[in-house]
Amino acid sequence: MKYLKSIEQNRTERTDQLAFSGDSINVSKAQPNDLQEIYQIACSVGQNKKVATKGFLMDDYSSDPKFYQAKLLSDIFELKYFYVARSKTQDKIMGFLMLNTREEWLSNNTGWIEEVYWNPRFDMSKTDNFVFVDKTAIYAPYTGRGIGSVLFSNMIADSKKRGVNGIFAETIVGPEPNLASLAFKVKQKYIVAGMRYEV
Ligand SMILES: CC(C)(COP(=O)(O)OP(=O)(O)OC[C@H]1O[C@@H](n2cnc3c(N)ncnc32)[C@H](O)[C@@H]1OP(=O)(O)O)[C@@H](O)C(=O)NCCC(=O)NCCS
Repeated sequence: MKYLKSIEQNRTERTDQLAFSGDSINVSKAQPNDLQEIYQIACSVGQNKKVATKGFLMDDYSSDPKFYQAKLLSDIFELKYFYVARSKTQDKIMGFLMLNTREEWLSNNTGWIEEVYWNPRFDMSKTDNFVFVDKTAIYAPYTGRGIGSVLFSNMIADSKKRGVNGIFAETIVGPEPNLASLAFKVKQKYIVAGMRYEV
């Protein structure tokens, strides 16, 4: 089961200063030669064992390296918005955020709008022109240091520039809830727009 969230676009701040001293983060579009670093990050938080309080990606990326690397490479080439966060001092990628345009999301999730149990008070006009945050992942040893927030601020600023009027993301609440992701989304001021059962 997933709660579906939409965010009020009233944030204006941008920041690339991190919570730990002496480092800052540069956000840019993912490039094919970033693949290995992106894959290592995915492996660090996408494992067979899901830890609710640390957060997790659904897939177990180490289980089939060829398959998952090919999938990530195709996302790097195909997706219009695939951001990476690079530590300036370490010159290393620390996290990534994949965004789908409305067309990209609905072409892979046909019937999504009809499958969601929408909150009757939710303003459905936000589904006319939206982006969907498909995956956010920070290298496991560096979670909780503000990198996800930097990626998020950059994504919001970009989406505003493009006149997007809805930003959606889904968080798993069962059978194993992603508590870190839920807390992150509360912090980012998402609101619950609906819920969906995955079949
Ligand atoms: C969820 C995730 C993307 C957040 O990124 P992050 O860089 O760790 O988050 P930030 O340091 O910017 O934290 C921002 C807020 O999120 C919340 N948060 C982040 N990690 C948390 C955790 N493990 N437990 C509770 N709250 C958490 C806090 O409210 C935090 O604010 P605070 O620092 O003022 O307490 C990251 O932890 C991650 O990659 N987790 C594993 C993969 C995952 O769950 N992805 C999301 C599903 S696609």
